[in-house]
Amino acid sequence: MKLKSAITMLAFSTALAVNGFALASSQSDEHAKAAGWNKGGGEQDAALTLKADLENGLDVYEVCSACHLPEGWGTKEGTFPQLSGQHRKVLIKQLADIRALNRDNPTMYPFALPESIGDEQAIADVTAYIEKIPMNPDNGKGPATADLAKGKELYKVNCVKCHGEIGEGDADKFYPKIAGQHYNYMIRQFEWIRDGKRRNANPDMVEQIKGFSDQDMIDVISYVAAIPVPKEDLAPSKDWLNPDFD
Ligand code: HEC
Ligand code: HEC
Repeated sequence: MKLKSAITMLAFSTALAVNGFALASSQSDEHAKAAGWNKGGGEQDAALTLKADLENGLDVYEVCSACHLPEGWGTKEGTFPQLSGQHRKVLIKQLADIRALNRDNPTMYPFALPESIGDEQAIADVTAYIEKIPMNPDNGKGPATADLAKGKELYKVNCVKCHGEIGEGDADKFYPKIAGQHYNYMIRQFEWIRDGKRRNANPDMVEQIKGFSDQDMIDVISYVAAIPVPKEDLAPSKDWLNPDFD
């Protein structure tokens, strides 16, 4: 019964997501700006102000671990992103956006709904838990053919001001940490942001990268995937297992 309703919802959400995309692509940039990136409100604001309960966060995270793994590391080939170590405010915004269908994620959508995990308190709790998990020391890297020197130049000129010198992001501004993330996942997101398919994207980032060729994209994302993550944020080895899941 549970599985059946999950599948029904999956089909439903895919249909919604496709409709939403058609709608979004017919809108101009002006409209996106007027609608306002990260205008907050709703679940996002509520989750941000609630006090987090880490124990409940772990309980909620069990559902998530089916795809993002108990370590929160996702998969190296990039189907599932690494979540661990991400700024809590970024996680809250992304979860609220996914639930509000501002960001297409038909695979995850049914599992992220209030019926499945709970209300804003669940978001507050699970994001506090995820932020504290140590990161994967062995994230997916770009192809050997990428020009990392060119990527570094592109990064300095186009990305540092938001994602920071070492890809650390900016929690207060909801700018994600991107160092340590899997290459394939980032390529997919970057392309969707550039081409307007990720509707929650910051319009200034869209503007900044609209002239990027596919090769520029490969070079800059390969560079980002290779930025060393500060040691204190990493798990001791790539074989580390989350002891909370013993
Ligand atoms: C059925 C698999 C699945 C489950 C279960 C799942 N996710 Fe995801 N999640 C995904 C996929 C796939 C993506 C990436 C989608 C994309 O490429 O845009 C994702 C993306 C995310 C992102 C955005 C990451 C970023 O860097 O922007 C967050 C945050 C997230 N998931 C949190 C959660 C939480 C919290 C749970 C549990 C409540 C959960 N997910 C359960 C599959 C899943
Ligand atoms: C004006 C600020 C800004 C600039 C400039 C910018 N970004 Fe972003 N970037 C963001 C924000 C904000 C997000 C999250 C958008 C959202 O709310 O979903 C993001 C998301 C991303 C993501 C997806 C992260 C994830 O976890 O899903 C990647 C990858 C990324 N940016 C790479 C880059 C690269 C590489 C550059 C330079 C070529 C760049 N960005 C320039 C603000 C910026």
